[in-house]
Amino acid sequence: SYCNQRRQECDNQMKRIAIFASGNGSNFQVIAEQFKVHFVFSDHRDAFVLKRAETLGVPAYVFELKEFADKQAYEQALIDLLDKHQIDLVVLAGYMKIIGPTLLAKYEGRIINIHPAYLPEFPGAHGIEDAWEADVPESGVTVHWVDSGVDTGQIIKQVRVPRLADDHLEQFEERIHAAEYQLYPTVLEALGVEMIEF
Ligand code: GAR
Repeated sequence: SYCNQRRQECDNQMKRIAIFASGNGSNFQVIAEQFKVHFVFSDHRDAFVLKRAETLGVPAYVFELKEFADKQAYEQALIDLLDKHQIDLVVLAGYMKIIGPTLLAKYEGRIINIHPAYLPEFPGAHGIEDAWEADVPESGVTVHWVDSGVDTGQIIKQVRVPRLADDHLEQFEERIHAAEYQLYPTVLEALGVEMIEF
């Protein structure tokens, strides 16, 4: 194919991603082991995702909202980073802030999020716990485009995850996370994100 013959030209058309993560960063790690991640951003200076980035050799940036005059200035700093790295797709992976109007105005249609429930069921910051508390027989995982609402954007792909009769919350959580580690790479590949070659 054209891409096999002219690898350079092909790669140049592939989408360049940045990942935003606020905490642990396990989804970041799974993605960075399979795809070229141009940088990771964390909004918390003590986030474990920064250690993962260092281990994986992924460039990392960190700054906190409270270091800026307001959210507009904070998001303008993010836009400057995204522009500088020519990012095509922003991949939210446990980024626990709402994307505000400043960032949306420039990047809407180029931001995706993973949510640990089967949207529109259980939106918000506690998707796993809320499904658990509701005693549903199954929940799921969703990847969706980000709009101005909370977990309301157009769904790209979602999978169901069962809750088993003898589950404890920890086992249910683990099953949700395992589904995330499958679903997000599947979507990134489908969207044309550059993969790492072995
Ligand atoms: C993931 O389960 C992700 O779906 C969730 O936070 C976790 C981050 O884990 N995101 C949200 O709840 C967004 N509302 P990680 O930092 O280990 O990837």
